[in-house]
Amino acid sequence: MGIMSLSQKEVINALRKGKVTICVVGLGRIGLPQAALFADRGAHVIGADVDPAVVECVNSGRSHLLDEPGLDRLVMSATNSGRLKATVDTSLGVEAADFVIVSVPTPISAKRIPDYSQMEEACHAIAKTLPKDCLIIIESTVGPGAVEDFVIPLLEEEAKMEVCVDFGVASCPERADPGGLLRDLTTVPRIVGGINDKSAEIARALYREIFGVEVVVVSDPKTANAAKLAENLFRDVNIALVSEFALLYEKLGIDAIEVIDACSTKYNFMPHYPSAGVGGPCLPQNPYFLIYEGMKAGYIPRMVQMARQINDDTPKRAVAMATMALRRINKKAESSKIAILGVTYKPNIRDLQHTPVEKIFISLKEIGATLKLYDPMFRDEEVFGKRISRSVEEAVRDADCILIGTAHDEFRNLDLDLLRERCNMPAVFADIANISDPSIVEEHGFTYAGIRKPEKSWSLREEEDSLQCTASQ
Ligand SMILES: NC(=O)c1ccc[n+]([C@@H]2O[C@H](COP(=O)([O-])OP(=O)(O)OC[C@H]3O[C@@H](n4cnc5c(N)ncnc54)[C@H](O)[C@@H]3O)[C@@H](O)[C@H]2O)c1
Repeated sequence: MGIMSLSQKEVINALRKGKVTICVVGLGRIGLPQAALFADRGAHVIGADVDPAVVECVNSGRSHLLDEPGLDRLVMSATNSGRLKATVDTSLGVEAADFVIVSVPTPISAKRIPDYSQMEEACHAIAKTLPKDCLIIIESTVGPGAVEDFVIPLLEEEAKMEVCVDFGVASCPERADPGGLLRDLTTVPRIVGGINDKSAEIARALYREIFGVEVVVVSDPKTANAAKLAENLFRDVNIALVSEFALLYEKLGIDAIEVIDACSTKYNFMPHYPSAGVGGPCLPQNPYFLIYEGMKAGYIPRMVQMARQINDDTPKRAVAMATMALRRINKKAESSKIAILGVTYKPNIRDLQHTPVEKIFISLKEIGATLKLYDPMFRDEEVFGKRISRSVEEAVRDADCILIGTAHDEFRNLDLDLLRERCNMPAVFADIANISDPSIVEEHGFTYAGIRKPEKSWSLREEEDSLQCTASQ
C-alpha cells in the first residue's frame, strides 16, 4: 500500500519502524546530505544521479562534497548499513519508492530565464515507473507556479496518472546553507506547500519525523516557492543596499562597517556586510525566477532587478580600489604582480559557483596584471585556468598587491610581518573581504585599500575612469 493511502499516524509509524523507501533524485549539495540523513534515521534510500562518478563515489561509501562537516562519515555508515544505495537509473530507483525527493539543478540560462531542462529530464524518468500512491516532493528551487504549471502536467501526461488521485505532490524548497547542510537540515524549519492537504500532511510527517524540525505548512507549492525566493531576494536586496552605503559613505569619509556595527545595536536592524560581491548557486540566480514569473504576470519587481545590477557591479569596485591604491604608490596594475587570497564565493567552503572573485580575476587579467591565486580549499589545484599556490607565502612572493577576495578563517590572522618580507614593497593590501583593521595593515607598511578607510577624494566616476584608462593603456 502506497504512502498516500495511509493516515498521518500510519506514516509516522512506518517511518519509525524503518518501513519507508525514499528515492532522492540528484545527489549533489542538497540531495546527498539528505539521502544520508534519511538512511541514518532508518529509511531505505535509493539515490539516483545521472553522473556515474557521483554514484560510484556514494556506493563506495564516500561523499564527493569535501566541505560538509560530518558528511563523509554519515555516507560511509549509511552505505555500510545497506540503507543507502545509489544508481544512475532514476526509473529503477523510483519503482519501489514511497517518497521521491527531487533535488536536481535548476539554473538560470544565459538569457536570464529559468532552465528547467534537468527537472524535465528527471520528471520523464520518474514518470516511467511512478508507483501508485507515491508522494513526490520538489526541493529544487523553481519559480512560483512552476510545480503546478510545468512539473505536475508533465508527470500526469507521462505517467498516465492523475495528481491527488494516483499520486501526491508537494514543494519543500531547500533552505540549508552550503558548509552547514547537516546542521541546517536538522535545525532550520521547513516550508511545505502541498497540491492538496493530504500531500502537505504526509510531507510534513516526513520532515518532522526524520529531521525533527518544525514544518510550516503553507497553502500550496507556489506559496512555498515564493517564500523560498523571497528570503533569498531579501538578502540580495539588503546586500545591494549595504554596498550602496559603502559607496556613498566612502565618499563622505565614513567607515561603512562602523556604521553597520552601530546600527546593529538596534533590535530591528539586520546587519548585512559589503564584500567582493554576491555569489553561490542561489542569490545571483534566484531573483530571475521571480523576475521571469513577474514578466509573465505583468509586473516586474524593480527593486529586485536593481539589486541584481548593483551586486553584479560590485566586483568592478574591488578592481578599481586595488588599481587606484597601486597608483598611489606609483605602480601600474598592468605591470604589477597581484596575489589574490580566497577565490570561493563564501568563506570556508569549496564552492566556486558564480564567485565574484572570478570577475575580479578576469578584470585584472584583462588589465595585464600578473596574477597568483591562493585558496585553502583548492591548494595546488587549477581554478580559473590557473594553478592555485600551495601556501600564502608562495602566492605573495614579490607581490605588489595582496587582494583578499574571500574571508576564509585562515586569512583572519595573517602574519603581516612575514607578508611584508615576501612582498615587493611598497605594496597594497586590498581587503575586499573586510577582515582586517586598516590601521594595523598600515602599521605594517602596506597601503590599505578597502571601504574601511574612506577616501573622500574618490568618486565612482574616477574609479570608472581609472579602470578604463588602466585597461586601455
Ligand atoms: N547548493 C545550495 O546551496 C542550494 C540551496 C538551496 C537550494 N538549492 C537548489 O537545490 C537544487 C539542487 O542544487 P544542488 O546545489 O544540490 O546542485 P548540485 O549541482 O550540487 O547537484 C545536483 C545533482 O543532480 C544531478 N542531476 C542532474 N540532472 C539530473 C537528473 N535528470 N536526474 C538525476 N540527477 C540529476 C547532478 O549530476 C548533480 O549531482 C537546485 O534547484 C538549487 O537551486 C541549492
